[in-house]
Amino acid sequence: MNVNIQQIKQRFGIIGNSLALNQAIETAIQIAPTDLSVLIVGESGTGKEVFSQIIHQNSVRKHNQYIAINCGAIPDGTIDSELFGHEKGAFTGAIDSRKGYFELANGGTIFLDEVGELPLSTQVRLLRVLEVGEYIRVGSSKIQKTNVRIIAATNINLQTAIETGKFREDLYYRLNRVPISIPPLRERREDIPLLFRKFTADMCEKHAIPPLRLDDAANELLTNYYWKGNIRQLKNIAEQISILEKERNVSAHTLLAYLPEINQSQSLVVIEKNNSNANYANERDSLFQLLFDLKKDMNELKKLVFDILSSSESDLQLSNENAQMLQKIYSTDVAYYDKQQHDEKEEITVYEPKNNAMPHIEDAQEIVENTLLLANNEMDIIKRALAKYNGKRKLAAKELGISERTLYRKIKEYNL
Ligand SMILES: Nc1ncnc2c1ncn2[C@@H]1O[C@H](COP(=O)(O)OP(=O)(O)OP(=O)(O)O)[C@@H](O)[C@H]1O
Ligand SMILES: [Mg+2]
Repeated sequence: MNVNIQQIKQRFGIIGNSLALNQAIETAIQIAPTDLSVLIVGESGTGKEVFSQIIHQNSVRKHNQYIAINCGAIPDGTIDSELFGHEKGAFTGAIDSRKGYFELANGGTIFLDEVGELPLSTQVRLLRVLEVGEYIRVGSSKIQKTNVRIIAATNINLQTAIETGKFREDLYYRLNRVPISIPPLRERREDIPLLFRKFTADMCEKHAIPPLRLDDAANELLTNYYWKGNIRQLKNIAEQISILEKERNVSAHTLLAYLPEINQSQSLVVIEKNNSNANYANERDSLFQLLFDLKKDMNELKKLVFDILSSSESDLQLSNENAQMLQKIYSTDVAYYDKQQHDEKEEITVYEPKNNAMPHIEDAQEIVENTLLLANNEMDIIKRALAKYNGKRKLAAKELGISERTLYRKIKEYNL
């Protein structure tokens, strides 16, 4: 079966090797030869459409028609006639009779994407096709037979639609003879770097531009991002960054600029307040992990700067006020960070929401404030080092104990 899965991936251009993805492909292969209707469920952009093609192409119907219909894109007024056809004069403008998709796809497969968008009257007609293989054209009384396999997909929760009277329960059970669930990217994180690499490589090759490379921190950020729009969103961002980014070695800082939602601390709070399901806990954990990783990097940098300044060999002079400030930030941050290391085992308890209280948001604010404070001081120190060596970056970088490249990046960042 494994060999088969690999062949399917190659044939249909599917990237990823997570267990959840492989299981979904395996189910598709297993049920393809049957005539059972299938309901593919997954968030927007998870890649539902290709599963419908896998099923059709691996069924006995593969030489007959495959018609994909986006139920959400057809106006309510014309959907019955599109699906089931109409007779001449059935409505104003029906100057001729017309075959519907269920007639055209006889012997083949119909893919009903966004099936939750079907009007209730159309749901009744569809139920009849599923139950007895019969339908009537709009404006006709003649019953017609069709032999069509139906594969449906939805990115909304049909159970909720049933509860609110928007979707027929009997139709749901008829469609859902075999469910296939496509997990969101955040539940198969190991696939994210593979997909990103493939999308950027394709784009760079297509436009004959040098390939992109993500550093470790950028890869970490990419993998831990929420990816609300799943593979579609990942593809968009991979393509954007491939074309727009001049620096081909991408850092987490650079990547962050392409991930707008994560930049808005407000969205964090909204998620905290409005979302009680498990997803937001994952997202929040990822964001805090990111903040703490950033903080760790900052602490290391601070320690380095502090050590340089404290060393007796250093002749780099700081004003009294700045020296005190640096010492203060450094000592509080180290104490804070040390405490965290010490509490590492309790980390989950510490950052778990407790009755909607948000102590961790305050922690995050403290980190952001300290980080800003440090940035000002860092800028000051860099300025002085540059002034001391008349702008000679190599000597200034040596004095600061950082690489020339890092210094160059800082100069650009602080607009020095
Ligand atoms: N595993 C995959 N490997 C490579 N590309 C993929 C994969 N899955 C999906 N894609 C690509 O991601 C994009 C989104 O997929 P698709 O349109 O099937 O999403 P969807 O689940 O139908 O979303 P929606 O519910 O919004 O219609 C497409 O360009 C598709 O080719
Ligand atoms: Mg789709």
